[in-house]
Amino acid sequence: MARKFPDWKKLYKDREIEDLPWFYPGLDPDLENALDKFGISSGKALDIGTGPGTQAIALAERGFKVTGTDLSGTAIRKARIKAEEAGVTVDFRQDDMLDSTLGTTFDLVFDRGVFHTMQPDMRAEYLGYVYDLVNPGGYLFVKCFSHLETMEEGPHRFSPDEIRDYFSGKFEILSIDDTVYHGTLDPYPRALFTSMRKPGA
Ligand SMILES: C[S@@+](CC[C@H](N)C(=O)[O-])C[C@H]1O[C@@H](n2cnc3c(N)ncnc32)[C@H](O)[C@@H]1O
Repeated sequence: MARKFPDWKKLYKDREIEDLPWFYPGLDPDLENALDKFGISSGKALDIGTGPGTQAIALAERGFKVTGTDLSGTAIRKARIKAEEAGVTVDFRQDDMLDSTLGTTFDLVFDRGVFHTMQPDMRAEYLGYVYDLVNPGGYLFVKCFSHLETMEEGPHRFSPDEIRDYFSGKFEILSIDDTVYHGTLDPYPRALFTSMRKPGA
């Protein structure tokens, strides 16, 4: 089933980033746990669909060399201001991950809320692009809505089995955790946090 999504470029022009449902000012607690669990403390990181840039900024504060990309140029401009205020360097760039011009690969890629906005017929394409962005032996972390979330509006939802079906052909699935999508909604929506590794290296 296709779900409706906002016009991302218009959304970031019209709204304050702090009011968006996915705005979370610190490092996502699930990513924080995963970094600790897998002993990842440095490297080149990419935050795809960075939006307000909070995750990219939090990773830079932890010492990662970070790139943050988004479809929306306004989001990127606002994220740059946040990074400047935080006193960290992030390479923020407007980029469509389905037609990326980055031309480089990363030790860690974080997708917080992009995969679950892909319509079903775009998911195979998404997988090919995200695979190409991760270094052999590198990590991919994906946070998406869970099939346990019952709110009517919002992105696509996935069960752990569906996540396995999509990603296991390309990545080794390390864990799929039941969690919530931290942001400005009350209560937080139910979510899945998937940790994966690209074979090789
Ligand atoms: C649910 S928001 C999450 C934003 C951010 N990751 C966070 O957690 O705060 C999804 C984001 O993905 C971006 N996006 C959607 N499709 C994209 C694409 N093809 N390439 C890059 N960004 C995309 C949107 O502009 C939006 O900022």
